Amino acid sequence: MKKIQTSILTIVFAAGGLLSPPVLAADIAAGKAKSATCAACHGNNGISMIPMYPNLAGQKEQYMVLQMKAFRDGERKNMVMAPMAAGLSDIEIANISAYYASLDPAGK
Ligand code: HEC
Repeated sequence: MKKIQTSILTIVFAAGGLLSPPVLAADIAAGKAKSATCAACHGNNGISMIPMYPNLAGQKEQYMVLQMKAFRDGERKNMVMAPMAAGLSDIEIANISAYYASLDPAGK
């Protein structure tokens, strides 16, 4: 019985892999849509106009995911960023990070 279940699972995953994109792949378009509030401080294309605010364009995706979660979970403390990250799910953070990582750090 166990063996049959395993084979069925294998078939389902194999078929799923062929028909749809991997479930874990971040959605850059969704990340872009979610980044509207971020643009006020981090710039439209991820290049900040304000010296106190960091650029995000071309940031390492994994680093950004970790920082966003750290802000959200209170491990990295910043009065400005904490509320920005507070409402974001892991998936939204992954999408936003993929979006900023895809931008040109030179702002082009
Ligand atoms: C009101 C201004 C403001 C808004 C809006 C804002 N941020 Fe920030 N962000 C900051 C500031 C200020 C810092 C620097 C925080 C620090 O010194 O730790 C920062 C830092 C960051 C960092 C860390 C960068 C690094 O190099 O470690 C990330 C990532 C980030 N913001 C992402 C976002 C995202 C994503 C959004 C939108 C959901 C957003 N921010 C919205 C002001 C803002």
